[in-house]
Amino acid sequence: MQLVVLGAAAGGGFPQWNCNCRNCAGVRDGSVRATPRTQSSICVRADGAADWALFNTSPDILQQIKQFRPLQPGRAIRDTGIRGIVLMDGQVDHTTGLYMLRERGEKMPLWCTDPVFEDLSSGNPLLRVLEHFCGVDRHTVPIDGSRFSIPGVAGITFAAMALKSAAAPYSPHRNDPVPGDNIGVTITDNASGKRVFYAPGLAEIEAHVWQAMQAADAVLVDGTFWTDDEMISLGLSKKRGSDIGHLAQSGTGGMLEWLGELPDSTRKVLIHINNTNPILDEDSRERAELHARGIEVAYDGMEICL
Ligand code: MLT
Ligand code: MN
Ligand code: ZN
Repeated sequence: MQLVVLGAAAGGGFPQWNCNCRNCAGVRDGSVRATPRTQSSICVRADGAADWALFNTSPDILQQIKQFRPLQPGRAIRDTGIRGIVLMDGQVDHTTGLYMLRERGEKMPLWCTDPVFEDLSSGNPLLRVLEHFCGVDRHTVPIDGSRFSIPGVAGITFAAMALKSAAAPYSPHRNDPVPGDNIGVTITDNASGKRVFYAPGLAEIEAHVWQAMQAADAVLVDGTFWTDDEMISLGLSKKRGSDIGHLAQSGTGGMLEWLGELPDSTRKVLIHINNTNPILDEDSRERAELHARGIEVAYDGMEICL
């Protein structure tokens, strides 16, 4: 299979429009060696297949499509290589791009869990707004691990699991999490049996999540924050990463320790990286530590072929 990172940054992107943190200011003026990144999305297809599954629709989706030609084939007067859209949660950075795809001629083929469907029909009723444009052909993502496929996305199968992370601020149950607010997905290539585990928002590695990570040939997991108090120490927020559903990389029980337990042969990639995270600075101590541990930092355009 061919997996392409369309956007490797967390909400806000990198640099963020109004941010003057060291990374954002530095990438703008060239004093920090780093690459800008758009907001959180990947796409995947089987080798040789025509069409793609898109995971998340970021506010940057139009830029991402412009930068990745295979999503825009020319088979008809209006055409797209996106045959199905899967949402990992109902957050702004993963859903706002649905508005940008409203010119679609047919209903938008959308896979999401019941809690995400409810949030996007109530607290942030964007699916109701879309009914005035192309409309949505909504499919339920099962969270019991049963496999599903997307018609037209040949050769790959998906299996989702509920995760501990956080529902969007406008969710009617923001402070009362329910299974399915956030998911992780195992993507399997039917021909080779190779698997990727994708979880851009992950607050806790529960047993079923760890099992999926161990079974995968590549993991693309939450790379939002290096330290749990990153936003607090920069004076940017009163919330810890763990408060908003993200497990930090450093520290006891952090993502680096978990990734260190996986076999050397597993490809380990951090994704959904917040603009404050020092790993974005290619000359940072933190980036060197990732390199030493065999952990990669996702970037826009990164391809993973399995
Ligand atoms: C998150 O991943 O925690 C959210 O997307 C944050 C945001 O709203 O940008
Ligand atoms: Mn996010
Ligand atoms: Zn910043």
